[in-house]
Amino acid sequence: MNRQIKVALIGFGRMGRFYFTEMQKSGQWDIVYICDTDPKCREIAQTLSPHSRVVEDEDEVFADDSIEVVGLFTLADSRGHQIEKAVACGKHIICEKPIAESIEKEWKAVKAAEHAPIFSTVNLYLRNSWYHNYIKHWIDEGEIGELAIIRICHMTPGLAPGEGHEYEGPAFHDCGMHYVDIARWYAKSEFKTWHAQGLRMWNYKDPWWLQCHGTFESGVVFDITQGFVYGQLSKDQTHNSYTDIIGTKGIIRMTHDFKTAVVELRGVTQTIREERPYGGKNIDTLCRLFAETVLTGKRNTQLPTLRDSVTASLYAWKFLDDARQHDLPAIGNLETLEEIRERRRNMKNGYGLLRSKYII
Ligand SMILES: NC(=O)c1ccc[n+]([C@@H]2O[C@H](COP(=O)([O-])OP(=O)(O)OC[C@H]3O[C@@H](n4cnc5c(N)ncnc54)[C@H](O)[C@@H]3O)[C@@H](O)[C@H]2O)c1
Repeated sequence: MNRQIKVALIGFGRMGRFYFTEMQKSGQWDIVYICDTDPKCREIAQTLSPHSRVVEDEDEVFADDSIEVVGLFTLADSRGHQIEKAVACGKHIICEKPIAESIEKEWKAVKAAEHAPIFSTVNLYLRNSWYHNYIKHWIDEGEIGELAIIRICHMTPGLAPGEGHEYEGPAFHDCGMHYVDIARWYAKSEFKTWHAQGLRMWNYKDPWWLQCHGTFESGVVFDITQGFVYGQLSKDQTHNSYTDIIGTKGIIRMTHDFKTAVVELRGVTQTIREERPYGGKNIDTLCRLFAETVLTGKRNTQLPTLRDSVTASLYAWKFLDDARQHDLPAIGNLETLEEIRERRRNMKNGYGLLRSKYII
Protein backbone atom coordinates (compact mmCIF):
# COMPACT_ATOMS: atom_id res chain seq x y z
CA MET A 1 0.00 0.00 0.00
CA ASN A 2 2.96 2.30 0.47
CA ARG A 3 4.40 2.14 -3.00
CA GLN A 4 3.88 5.01 -5.45
CA ILE A 5 1.71 4.45 -8.52
CA LYS A 6 3.31 5.27 -11.86
CA VAL A 7 1.07 7.74 -13.66
CA ALA A 8 1.16 9.75 -16.89
CA LEU A 9 -0.83 12.98 -17.15
CA ILE A 10 -2.10 13.75 -20.65
CA GLY A 11 -3.30 17.35 -21.00
CA PHE A 12 -1.50 19.83 -18.76
CA GLY A 13 -3.88 22.78 -18.94
CA ARG A 14 -6.03 24.08 -16.11
CA MET A 15 -7.43 20.75 -14.91
CA GLY A 16 -4.24 18.78 -15.58
CA ARG A 17 -2.42 21.20 -13.28
CA PHE A 18 -4.97 20.58 -10.46
CA TYR A 19 -4.39 16.82 -10.67
CA PHE A 20 -0.64 17.36 -10.73
CA THR A 21 -0.80 19.46 -7.55
CA GLU A 22 -3.05 17.04 -5.66
CA MET A 23 -1.13 13.94 -6.76
CA GLN A 24 2.16 15.51 -5.73
CA LYS A 25 0.77 16.60 -2.38
CA SER A 26 -0.54 13.12 -1.56
CA GLY A 27 2.77 11.33 -2.15
CA GLN A 28 0.81 8.37 -3.57
CA TRP A 29 1.82 9.01 -7.17
CA ASP A 30 4.99 8.97 -9.21
CA ILE A 31 4.27 11.36 -12.10
CA VAL A 32 6.50 9.72 -14.70
CA TYR A 33 5.18 11.53 -17.80
CA ILE A 34 3.44 14.77 -18.57
CA CYS A 35 2.14 15.05 -22.13
CA ASP A 36 0.76 18.13 -23.87
CA THR A 37 0.63 19.13 -27.52
CA ASP A 38 1.18 22.78 -26.60
CA PRO A 39 4.91 23.64 -26.31
CA LYS A 40 4.25 26.35 -23.70
CA CYS A 41 2.42 23.84 -21.48
CA ARG A 42 5.34 21.44 -21.87
CA GLU A 43 7.73 24.18 -20.77
CA ILE A 44 5.61 24.82 -17.68
CA ALA A 45 5.43 21.07 -16.99
CA GLN A 46 9.21 20.76 -17.10
CA THR A 47 9.60 23.69 -14.73
CA LEU A 48 7.04 22.40 -12.25
CA SER A 49 8.10 18.77 -12.46
CA PRO A 50 11.77 18.47 -13.43
CA HIS A 51 11.87 14.72 -12.77
CA SER A 52 8.96 13.92 -15.14
CA ARG A 53 9.47 13.04 -18.80
CA VAL A 54 7.65 15.78 -20.70
CA VAL A 55 6.45 14.67 -24.14
CA GLU A 56 4.34 15.90 -27.02
CA ASP A 57 3.13 12.57 -28.37
CA GLU A 58 0.64 10.61 -26.26
CA ASP A 59 1.71 7.37 -27.98
CA GLU A 60 5.05 7.48 -26.12
CA VAL A 61 3.07 7.21 -22.89
CA PHE A 62 0.81 4.42 -24.07
CA ALA A 63 3.82 2.44 -25.35
CA ASP A 64 5.56 2.48 -21.94
CA ASP A 65 4.66 -0.74 -20.11
CA SER A 66 5.76 0.66 -16.75
CA ILE A 67 2.88 3.18 -16.70
CA GLU A 68 -0.01 1.88 -14.63
CA VAL A 69 -2.45 4.80 -14.78
CA VAL A 70 -3.14 7.48 -17.38
CA GLY A 71 -4.83 10.74 -16.44
CA LEU A 72 -6.82 12.08 -19.40
CA PHE A 73 -7.27 15.83 -18.96
CA THR A 74 -7.36 17.17 -22.52
CA LEU A 75 -10.62 18.43 -24.03
CA ALA A 76 -13.51 16.10 -24.85
CA ASP A 77 -12.60 15.78 -28.54
CA SER A 78 -9.49 13.68 -27.86
CA ARG A 79 -10.61 11.75 -24.76
CA GLY A 80 -12.68 9.01 -26.45
CA HIS A 81 -9.82 7.60 -28.51
CA GLN A 82 -7.39 8.03 -25.61
CA ILE A 83 -9.64 5.85 -23.45
CA GLU A 84 -9.65 3.21 -26.17
CA LYS A 85 -5.83 3.37 -26.44
CA ALA A 86 -5.47 3.07 -22.66
CA VAL A 87 -7.72 0.01 -22.65
CA ALA A 88 -5.73 -1.55 -25.51
CA CYS A 89 -2.51 -0.98 -23.52
CA GLY A 90 -3.96 -2.26 -20.23
CA LYS A 91 -3.69 1.01 -18.32
CA HIS A 92 -6.05 2.20 -15.60
CA ILE A 93 -7.87 5.44 -16.39
CA ILE A 94 -8.71 8.52 -14.39
CA CYS A 95 -10.34 11.10 -16.63
CA GLU A 96 -12.28 14.32 -16.97
CA LYS A 97 -15.84 14.65 -18.16
CA PRO A 98 -17.45 14.46 -20.65
CA ILE A 99 -15.57 11.33 -21.65
CA ALA A 100 -15.83 12.10 -25.40
CA GLU A 101 -17.39 14.75 -27.65
CA SER A 102 -20.47 12.79 -28.77
CA ILE A 103 -22.77 10.26 -27.15
CA GLU A 104 -21.79 7.59 -29.71
CA LYS A 105 -18.10 8.03 -28.90
CA GLU A 106 -18.85 8.11 -25.17
CA TRP A 107 -20.67 4.76 -25.33
CA LYS A 108 -17.84 3.31 -27.42
CA ALA A 109 -15.36 4.33 -24.73
CA VAL A 110 -17.56 2.93 -21.95
CA LYS A 111 -17.94 -0.41 -23.69
CA ALA A 112 -14.20 -0.66 -24.31
CA ALA A 113 -13.39 0.12 -20.66
CA GLU A 114 -16.06 -2.11 -19.15
CA HIS A 115 -14.85 -5.14 -21.06
CA ALA A 116 -11.24 -4.70 -20.00
CA PRO A 117 -9.43 -5.81 -16.84
CA ILE A 118 -8.66 -2.22 -15.81
CA PHE A 119 -10.09 0.30 -13.36
CA SER A 120 -11.51 3.57 -14.62
CA THR A 121 -13.14 6.62 -13.11
CA VAL A 122 -14.23 10.10 -14.05
CA ASN A 123 -14.39 13.40 -12.25
CA LEU A 124 -18.09 13.74 -11.43
CA TYR A 125 -16.87 15.84 -8.55
CA LEU A 126 -20.13 16.35 -6.67
CA ARG A 127 -20.15 12.64 -5.79
CA ASN A 128 -16.96 13.20 -3.83
CA SER A 129 -18.19 16.27 -1.97
CA TRP A 130 -18.65 16.07 1.80
CA TYR A 131 -22.04 17.80 1.62
CA HIS A 132 -23.76 15.41 -0.80
CA ASN A 133 -22.39 12.39 1.08
CA TYR A 134 -23.51 13.93 4.36
CA ILE A 135 -27.02 14.55 3.01
CA LYS A 136 -27.20 11.01 1.66
CA HIS A 137 -26.15 9.64 5.03
CA TRP A 138 -29.14 11.30 6.73
CA ILE A 139 -31.53 10.16 3.99
CA ASP A 140 -30.27 6.59 4.49
CA GLU A 141 -30.76 7.00 8.25
CA GLY A 142 -34.46 7.64 7.58
CA GLU A 143 -34.41 11.21 8.97
CA ILE A 144 -36.63 12.60 6.19
CA GLY A 145 -38.88 9.57 5.71
CA GLU A 146 -39.14 8.49 2.08
CA LEU A 147 -37.17 10.51 -0.46
CA ALA A 148 -39.73 12.30 -2.68
CA ILE A 149 -38.46 15.51 -4.31
CA ILE A 150 -34.97 16.52 -5.45
CA ARG A 151 -34.50 20.20 -6.30
CA ILE A 152 -31.16 21.50 -7.52
CA CYS A 153 -30.26 24.99 -8.63
CA HIS A 154 -26.95 26.40 -9.81
CA MET A 155 -26.97 29.88 -11.28
CA THR A 156 -23.83 32.02 -11.45
CA PRO A 157 -22.51 34.92 -13.55
CA GLY A 158 -20.03 32.34 -14.92
CA LEU A 159 -18.68 31.08 -18.26
CA ALA A 160 -20.31 33.10 -21.05
CA PRO A 161 -21.02 31.61 -24.48
CA GLY A 162 -17.98 31.54 -26.73
CA GLU A 163 -15.39 31.79 -23.93
CA GLY A 164 -14.14 28.21 -24.13
CA HIS A 165 -14.98 24.52 -23.67
CA GLU A 166 -16.77 24.42 -27.03
CA TYR A 167 -16.49 20.62 -27.35
CA GLU A 168 -18.18 20.30 -23.97
CA GLY A 169 -21.47 21.81 -25.20
CA PRO A 170 -23.74 24.58 -23.86
CA ALA A 171 -23.79 25.45 -20.14
CA PHE A 172 -26.42 22.85 -19.30
CA HIS A 173 -24.18 20.14 -20.73
CA ASP A 174 -20.70 21.38 -19.77
CA CYS A 175 -21.72 22.23 -16.18
CA GLY A 176 -25.32 20.99 -15.91
CA MET A 177 -24.37 17.35 -16.42
CA HIS A 178 -22.96 17.39 -12.86
CA TYR A 179 -26.43 18.23 -11.50
CA VAL A 180 -28.12 15.71 -13.76
CA ASP A 181 -25.70 13.14 -12.38
CA ILE A 182 -26.13 14.03 -8.72
CA ALA A 183 -29.95 13.99 -8.99
CA ARG A 184 -29.71 10.45 -10.40
CA TRP A 185 -27.22 9.52 -7.65
CA TYR A 186 -29.68 10.59 -4.95
CA ALA A 187 -32.64 8.90 -6.65
CA LYS A 188 -30.77 5.59 -7.23
CA SER A 189 -33.09 5.26 -10.21
CA GLU A 190 -33.20 6.11 -13.92
CA PHE A 191 -34.89 9.15 -15.49
CA LYS A 192 -38.40 8.34 -16.71
CA THR A 193 -40.12 11.57 -17.86
CA TRP A 194 -38.99 15.19 -18.33
CA HIS A 195 -39.99 18.60 -19.56
CA ALA A 196 -37.41 21.31 -20.11
CA GLN A 197 -37.72 25.04 -20.55
CA GLY A 198 -34.77 27.01 -21.85
CA LEU A 199 -34.03 30.60 -22.66
CA ARG A 200 -31.61 31.92 -25.28
CA MET A 201 -30.20 34.72 -23.16
CA TRP A 202 -28.63 37.57 -25.14
CA ASN A 203 -30.02 36.01 -28.35
CA TYR A 204 -27.17 33.47 -28.33
CA LYS A 205 -27.88 30.40 -30.48
CA ASP A 206 -27.99 27.97 -27.53
CA PRO A 207 -29.98 28.29 -24.30
CA TRP A 208 -27.65 29.49 -21.53
CA TRP A 209 -30.33 28.96 -18.86
CA LEU A 210 -32.38 25.80 -18.59
CA GLN A 211 -34.78 24.31 -16.14
CA CYS A 212 -35.94 20.72 -16.38
CA HIS A 213 -38.34 18.83 -14.20
CA GLY A 214 -39.57 15.25 -14.37
CA THR A 215 -39.69 11.87 -12.71
CA PHE A 216 -37.47 8.90 -12.02
CA GLU A 217 -38.63 5.29 -12.52
CA SER A 218 -38.96 5.11 -8.71
CA GLY A 219 -41.52 7.92 -8.66
CA VAL A 220 -39.14 10.43 -7.11
CA VAL A 221 -39.48 13.79 -8.87
CA PHE A 222 -36.73 16.28 -9.69
CA ASP A 223 -36.20 19.80 -10.87
CA ILE A 224 -32.84 21.08 -12.01
CA THR A 225 -32.11 24.72 -12.85
CA GLN A 226 -28.76 25.69 -14.30
CA GLY A 227 -27.66 28.90 -15.93
CA PHE A 228 -24.57 31.03 -16.33
CA VAL A 229 -26.80 34.05 -16.73
CA TYR A 230 -26.95 35.38 -13.18
CA GLY A 231 -26.09 39.05 -13.48
CA GLN A 232 -22.77 39.11 -15.38
CA LEU A 233 -22.95 42.89 -15.62
CA SER A 234 -24.10 43.61 -12.08
CA LYS A 235 -21.82 45.97 -10.15
CA ASP A 236 -21.37 43.41 -7.36
CA GLN A 237 -21.91 39.88 -8.57
CA THR A 238 -23.51 37.04 -6.67
CA HIS A 239 -24.83 33.52 -7.32
CA ASN A 240 -27.60 31.20 -6.21
CA SER A 241 -26.70 27.57 -5.66
CA TYR A 242 -28.65 25.10 -3.59
CA THR A 243 -29.84 21.54 -3.17
CA ASP A 244 -33.22 20.96 -1.59
CA ILE A 245 -34.13 17.39 -0.67
CA ILE A 246 -37.70 16.80 0.47
CA GLY A 247 -38.93 13.60 2.04
CA THR A 248 -42.30 12.42 3.32
CA LYS A 249 -41.35 13.53 6.84
CA GLY A 250 -38.43 15.94 6.78
CA ILE A 251 -36.10 17.98 4.59
CA ILE A 252 -32.39 18.53 4.06
CA ARG A 253 -30.95 21.48 2.19
CA MET A 254 -27.54 22.74 1.24
CA THR A 255 -26.15 26.00 0.01
CA HIS A 256 -22.63 27.28 -0.52
CA ASP A 257 -20.65 30.38 -1.38
CA PHE A 258 -17.78 28.44 -3.04
CA LYS A 259 -15.79 28.78 0.20
CA THR A 260 -18.11 27.26 2.78
CA ALA A 261 -20.96 24.80 2.34
CA VAL A 262 -23.80 24.60 4.82
CA VAL A 263 -26.13 21.62 5.20
CA GLU A 264 -29.32 21.97 7.23
CA LEU A 265 -31.28 18.93 8.31
CA ARG A 266 -34.80 19.14 9.66
CA GLY A 267 -35.22 15.45 10.37
CA VAL A 268 -37.66 13.49 12.49
CA THR A 269 -35.25 13.09 15.40
CA GLN A 270 -32.60 15.71 14.70
CA THR A 271 -32.09 19.29 13.65
CA ILE A 272 -28.55 19.90 12.47
CA ARG A 273 -26.69 22.80 10.88
CA GLU A 274 -23.33 21.58 9.55
CA GLU A 275 -20.84 24.04 8.11
CA ARG A 276 -17.52 23.01 6.55
CA PRO A 277 -15.11 24.24 3.85
CA TYR A 278 -16.68 23.86 0.39
CA GLY A 279 -13.91 21.64 -0.99
CA GLY A 280 -13.82 22.78 -4.64
CA LYS A 281 -13.55 20.01 -7.21
CA ASN A 282 -12.57 17.35 -4.64
CA ILE A 283 -9.75 16.11 -6.87
CA ASP A 284 -7.79 15.07 -3.77
CA THR A 285 -10.59 12.64 -2.84
CA LEU A 286 -10.93 11.30 -6.39
CA CYS A 287 -7.18 10.63 -6.63
CA ARG A 288 -7.03 9.05 -3.16
CA LEU A 289 -9.94 6.69 -3.80
CA PHE A 290 -8.49 5.73 -7.17
CA ALA A 291 -5.02 5.14 -5.71
CA GLU A 292 -6.55 2.85 -3.06
CA THR A 293 -8.45 1.02 -5.79
CA VAL A 294 -5.32 0.43 -7.88
CA LEU A 295 -3.22 -0.61 -4.88
CA THR A 296 -5.75 -3.00 -3.33
CA GLY A 297 -7.20 -4.32 -6.61
CA LYS A 298 -10.65 -3.64 -5.17
CA ARG A 299 -12.76 -0.87 -6.68
CA ASN A 300 -14.00 1.74 -4.20
CA THR A 301 -17.76 1.91 -4.79
CA GLN A 302 -17.85 5.67 -4.24
CA LEU A 303 -15.88 6.18 -7.45
CA PRO A 304 -18.00 7.44 -10.35
CA THR A 305 -17.99 5.16 -13.40
CA LEU A 306 -17.61 6.07 -17.06
CA ARG A 307 -21.17 4.75 -17.48
CA ASP A 308 -22.38 7.29 -14.87
CA SER A 309 -20.71 10.01 -16.90
CA VAL A 310 -22.17 9.05 -20.26
CA THR A 311 -25.60 8.66 -18.66
CA ALA A 312 -25.42 12.19 -17.22
CA SER A 313 -24.13 13.51 -20.53
CA LEU A 314 -26.91 11.71 -22.43
CA TYR A 315 -29.69 13.16 -20.27
CA ALA A 316 -28.17 16.64 -20.26
CA TRP A 317 -28.33 16.50 -24.07
CA LYS A 318 -31.87 15.05 -23.97
CA PHE A 319 -33.03 17.90 -21.72
CA LEU A 320 -31.42 20.45 -24.04
CA ASP A 321 -33.14 18.78 -27.02
CA ASP A 322 -36.44 18.80 -25.16
CA ALA A 323 -36.13 22.55 -24.52
CA ARG A 324 -35.70 23.05 -28.27
CA GLN A 325 -39.04 21.28 -28.90
CA HIS A 326 -40.90 23.99 -26.91
CA ASP A 327 -41.08 27.72 -27.10
CA LEU A 328 -37.43 28.75 -26.75
CA PRO A 329 -37.49 32.53 -26.43
CA ALA A 330 -34.51 34.81 -26.95
CA ILE A 331 -34.10 37.81 -24.65
CA GLY A 332 -31.45 40.50 -24.99
CA ASN A 333 -28.90 40.96 -27.72
CA LEU A 334 -25.41 39.98 -28.78
CA GLU A 335 -24.09 43.47 -27.93
CA THR A 336 -24.77 42.76 -24.26
CA LEU A 337 -23.02 39.41 -24.60
CA GLU A 338 -20.01 41.20 -26.10
CA GLU A 339 -20.03 43.63 -23.15
CA ILE A 340 -20.04 40.64 -20.80
CA ARG A 341 -17.13 38.99 -22.61
CA GLU A 342 -15.18 42.23 -22.53
CA ARG A 343 -15.80 42.67 -18.80
CA ARG A 344 -14.81 39.06 -18.10
CA ARG A 345 -11.65 39.36 -20.21
CA ASN A 346 -10.52 42.13 -17.87
CA MET A 347 -11.67 40.63 -14.59
CA LYS A 348 -9.02 39.37 -12.20
CA ASN A 349 -11.44 37.63 -9.90
CA GLY A 350 -14.79 36.38 -11.13
CA TYR A 351 -17.06 33.39 -11.47
CA GLY A 352 -15.76 30.59 -13.72
CA LEU A 353 -13.05 32.65 -15.38
CA LEU A 354 -10.93 30.45 -17.61
CA ARG A 355 -7.62 31.68 -16.25
CA SER A 356 -4.88 31.54 -18.88
CA LYS A 357 -3.30 28.11 -18.81
CA TYR A 358 0.06 29.86 -19.27
CA ILE A 359 -0.02 31.35 -15.79
CA ILE A 360 1.75 29.14 -13.26
N1 LIG B 1 -15.10 17.93 -13.62
C1 LIG B 1 -15.18 19.26 -13.63
O1 LIG B 1 -15.83 19.86 -12.79
C2 LIG B 1 -14.46 20.04 -14.69
C3 LIG B 1 -14.17 21.40 -14.49
C4 LIG B 1 -13.47 22.07 -15.49
C5 LIG B 1 -13.10 21.40 -16.65
N2 LIG B 1 -13.42 20.09 -16.80
C6 LIG B 1 -13.06 19.33 -18.00
O2 LIG B 1 -11.65 19.20 -18.05
C7 LIG B 1 -11.21 19.18 -19.42
C8 LIG B 1 -10.00 20.07 -19.54
O3 LIG B 1 -10.39 21.39 -19.29
P1 LIG B 1 -9.29 22.53 -19.08
O4 LIG B 1 -10.03 23.74 -18.66
O5 LIG B 1 -8.18 22.00 -18.25
O6 LIG B 1 -8.78 22.73 -20.59
P2 LIG B 1 -7.37 23.35 -21.06
O7 LIG B 1 -7.60 23.82 -22.45
O8 LIG B 1 -6.86 24.31 -20.02
O9 LIG B 1 -6.38 22.10 -21.03
C9 LIG B 1 -6.38 21.07 -21.98
C10 LIG B 1 -4.94 20.79 -22.37
O10 LIG B 1 -4.90 19.61 -23.16
C11 LIG B 1 -3.93 19.79 -24.18
N3 LIG B 1 -4.24 18.82 -25.26
C12 LIG B 1 -5.26 18.85 -26.14
N4 LIG B 1 -5.21 17.75 -26.94
C13 LIG B 1 -4.14 17.02 -26.53
C14 LIG B 1 -3.58 15.79 -26.93
N5 LIG B 1 -4.10 15.06 -27.92
N6 LIG B 1 -2.48 15.34 -26.29
C15 LIG B 1 -1.91 16.05 -25.28
N7 LIG B 1 -2.40 17.24 -24.87
C16 LIG B 1 -3.51 17.71 -25.48
C17 LIG B 1 -4.04 21.25 -24.57
O11 LIG B 1 -2.88 21.73 -25.19
C18 LIG B 1 -4.31 21.90 -23.20
O12 LIG B 1 -3.10 22.33 -22.60
C19 LIG B 1 -12.43 19.60 -20.26
O13 LIG B 1 -12.92 18.51 -20.98
C20 LIG B 1 -13.46 20.08 -19.25
O14 LIG B 1 -14.78 19.68 -19.60
C21 LIG B 1 -14.09 19.42 -15.85
